[in-house]
Parts: sequence; structure tokens; C-alpha cells
Amino acid sequence: MDTSDEWITSRTGIKRRHVAGEDEYTSDLAFRAVEDILARHGDDALAGVEMVIVATNTPDALFPATAALVQDRFKLSAGAFDLLAACPGWIYAVGVARGLVETGQCRRVLAIGSEALTKIVDWEDRSTAVLFGDGAGAAIVEAVPDQFGIRSVVMGADGSGGEHLHRRAVGKCLPGGTPLAEHVYMNGREVFKFAVRVMTTSTFEAIEKAGLTPEDISLFVPHQANLRIIDAARERLGLERERVVVTVDEYGNNSTASIPLAMLHAVDNGQVHEGDNLLLVSFGAGLTWAASVVTWAPTPG
Ligand code: ACO
Repeated sequence: MDTSDEWITSRTGIKRRHVAGEDEYTSDLAFRAVEDILARHGDDALAGVEMVIVATNTPDALFPATAALVQDRFKLSAGAFDLLAACPGWIYAVGVARGLVETGQCRRVLAIGSEALTKIVDWEDRSTAVLFGDGAGAAIVEAVPDQFGIRSVVMGADGSGGEHLHRRAVGKCLPGGTPLAEHVYMNGREVFKFAVRVMTTSTFEAIEKAGLTPEDISLFVPHQANLRIIDAARERLGLERERVVVTVDEYGNNSTASIPLAMLHAVDNGQVHEGDNLLLVSFGAGLTWAASVVTWAPTPG
């Protein structure tokens, strides 16, 4: 393909990506993320999980839900559904999980972001083929003492922008008549402008909803789509580089897996401490956006 490492690095910040094996799908990556929870927190880590949510744009099948495959794999007594809200899907899942826990419907919720995006990319389209990667991340949402936890969630959408980023499923075109592409189609410039705008507005909205100020945010965990988008948002928010998690060089854009993997990276690097306020923010097809402020609770054993 007519591209170069220089173009990709300077325009996106991506140096490496991870590609699922030929027979490896979104469910396989989700299983691995859940196994990682068990390895880190012990065999009882899934006890009391009453709902599994898999946020994904690349489910193994339209049905059954990939979440049901996870439920079966780990023999959970839990409901299961997939959530499709493009890249912000995992923040949406956390928002839904919070509601299920706060209303007493579920004791604990397993929220997974998992993608095998490289399977739906057109490898001859240089404007998208160089951007996307595969991966999965997972978290358990449960009640924590009042001073910790999910303080705010903002979830937004502007469906009029569907034409800028799409991929066909069972329909042939969008309601306005835009034909749906067989592979990922993206109008990069439009998405870029939209991304910088909503990353900034939804960040301020989530901080305000949490009753905090930008100075209270310890760590900014943005969607890892493009380093230039992250930098533009960071500058608009007036944040110094040390307060921003960057993993796009390692993973590229792996959509719903992006934020949980970035959080894990920050935790493993000792960047997250008890009581820290994390700001998560993402954008994607829909067009959609989401942001959340999370005050880090002590990590269970
Ligand atoms: N290699 C070499 N040249 C390329 C490549 C490539 N891989 N891709 C595009 N070009 C060329 C273009 O053809 C264009 O050439 P021209 O000037 O002769 O027409 C030139 O590079 C510039 O193209 P632009 O599209 O203007 O490049 P831009 O600087 O905007 O970068 C990019 C493109 C990286 C896609 C950027 O627009 C972007 O990151 N947009 C946001 C994408 C994004 O965040 N998507 C996430 C969506 S989340 C989800 O839901 C999946």
C-alpha cells in the first residue's frame, strides 16, 4: 500500500498494533481480558457478577450476543447483552453498569470492551487500514464507599453524522440514502474536527456533573485514536503531558478496548492512586461521545 512509517507516525502517533489471529475473534479476546481479572484478583473475582455487558463494534455474531459467550465460558449466573455505541461503548457500559448497581438490580456487573476490528478493515484503503487494532479490556463495577467510584457519566450522540463513519450490517443504506460500506468507511477530517470538539465539551460537562473543577483531575484517559487529537484536546483543556495517558503508539485505535486498556496501562505504571480523579473521554461512530469522572477506590486483593 502507498504509505510510510513516517506518514503514520507523524499523522497518528501509532507505532505498533496488535492483530488477532485468523481464528481469533472478539469473544476470544474478551475471555482473555476476564482471565486477566482472575489472574490479578483471584478465583473469586467473578463472584456476584449478575450482568455481563460487552461493548463492541465487532461481535462474533449479530446474535447470540458476545456477552452470552462470556457468560457461558465463565459459567456465571448472569444476564448478558452487547452494547453498540462505537468507541465510547465501554464508557456507556460503565454508565449502564453503575445504574444497575445503584438501583440494586445487580450486585456486580462485568463491563468488557473487546474488538477484532482488523477483520472489518479494507486492507487496501490506506485512510483506515493503518489506524485500527484489536484488543480487549474488562472491569467489574460494584458498590464502593461514597467518597470513591463513578461520580459522573455523560453519554451523547448526534446520529446526523452517521455518514462520516460506518460499516454495513443488515441494511444497505442510512435513512437519508447514504449507501453503507462493506468495510469500515471513515471521513477522517470530519471525524477529527468532531473529536477535538466533543472531547473538550464532554470533558467539561463530566467534571461539572461530578461537582469538580479541572484542577481536581489527576489523570486524563482519552480514547486512543490519534495522538494529534489527544494533544489538541489536552491543549484546549490546559493539561500538562504528565497528566495524560497515551497508549496509541502501542495499540493504535482498538475502539471500545481503548479506554480500559489505557486505564490498565496507567495502573500498571503506578500512575493511579487511591482517591485520584480520573477523567475518561471517548468519541466515535454514530457519531457518539461519552465521558466519566471516576475516583479511584482502593484496589481489592
Ligand atoms: N499513508 C499516506 N498518505 C495517506 C494515508 C496513508 N496511510 N492516508 C491518507 N493519506 C493522504 C491522503 O490521501 C491525503 O493526500 P492528498 O493531500 O494528496 O489528498 C493526505 O494524506 C492528507 O489526508 P488527510 O485525510 O487530510 O490526513 P489527516 O492529517 O486528516 O490524517 C487521519 C488522517 C489520521 C485519518 C485523521 O484525519 C484522523 O485521525 N481522523 C480521525 C480518525 C479517528 O479518530 N477515528 C476514530 C473513530 S472511532 C470509531 O468509532 C472507530
